Amino acid sequence: MSKTILILPGDGIGPEIVAEAVKVLACLKQDFGLDIELTDGLVGGAAYDAHGHPLPEQTLALARASDAVLLGAVGGPKWEPLDIAVRPEKGLLGLRAELGLFANLRPAILYPQLADASTLKPDVVSGLDILIVRELTGGIYFGRPRGVETLASGERRGINTLVYTESEIERICRVAFDMAMKRGKRVCSVDKANVLECTELWREVATRIGAEYPELTLSHMYVDNAAMQLVRAPKQFDVMVTTNMFGDILSDCAAMLTGSIGMLPSASLNADGQGMYEPIHGSAPDIAGQGVANPLATILSVAMMLRYSLDEPTHAERIEQAVSTVLDQGLRTADIASEGTTTVGTAAMGDAVVEAIRRA
Ligand code: IPM
Ligand code: MG
Repeated sequence: MSKTILILPGDGIGPEIVAEAVKVLACLKQDFGLDIELTDGLVGGAAYDAHGHPLPEQTLALARASDAVLLGAVGGPKWEPLDIAVRPEKGLLGLRAELGLFANLRPAILYPQLADASTLKPDVVSGLDILIVRELTGGIYFGRPRGVETLASGERRGINTLVYTESEIERICRVAFDMAMKRGKRVCSVDKANVLECTELWREVATRIGAEYPELTLSHMYVDNAAMQLVRAPKQFDVMVTTNMFGDILSDCAAMLTGSIGMLPSASLNADGQGMYEPIHGSAPDIAGQGVANPLATILSVAMMLRYSLDEPTHAERIEQAVSTVLDQGLRTADIASEGTTTVGTAAMGDAVVEAIRRA
């Protein structure tokens, strides 16, 4: 039976980059027999404009019914004045929560062809291959109480709550440890156990689960130190596992090690292997509509989708190999351009990847 993929372009550069990823899927379907059906829907600001809500019922129903979701990006200045409950970001957070996508995988891999695009010295980043496993449906992003209240004095007070249950910590640690066993067998769990009781519990649970993996080397690091180590000596890390907010911050940091946030895909999985796939960069409203955005993170997100939700690793490899080929050809979008390379736009980059898949 065909696998169904829900396409959610979203806002800003979302529609442009997703269009290139759809070209890649269409090529795999037509030329290589990948058995898929695509549907599309609205999310984020685009959904708010059409339906008054960033995650309309029909989008959620389509997402629940599909094997995987491909999302571009959400948000933009146009919707910033809206109440936080209907801002585009709520569409994304709602999908994560409603589908139970607790495990967010954010690989940061440096393509050797892009060693010059990083702001760090080539010897610090060459060969970089880190996997950040971010908890995605708990922590301070979802904890209650939350909100802004007015005190008797008339002063307002903002509240968010960091909360994790043992089982939430346990399941994300298991994902990270299982992933690590298939690669370098080293996990660094990142917390702030010296200050926050909640992450003291995190460290305790991580240690307990880690003991079930005798071949695994588990270490622990405070988040401030982890941020520093990521830019000082990033190759010390294999897999990092951390909370929702720490993972948000550290994954942007890790992305820049690879030269451009425009290169990095992500997967968000639930307990059934259903997943949502998206580039880790945002909607980049400043360059939206210009046809210059880098579609490679979205295209590489399709590769992750094929591997983790559709059980099609051969097709995933086709895509990853093609991305490497176009980089070898010297093709670069503006964000990763350097001396001696050829700068191309979004569509030309997508076409080049399709061409490379066909020729391989
Ligand atoms: C990310 C983004 C989101 C997050 C925003 C857009 C809600 O920054 O996926 O990293 O904070 O999780
Ligand atoms: Mg982020």
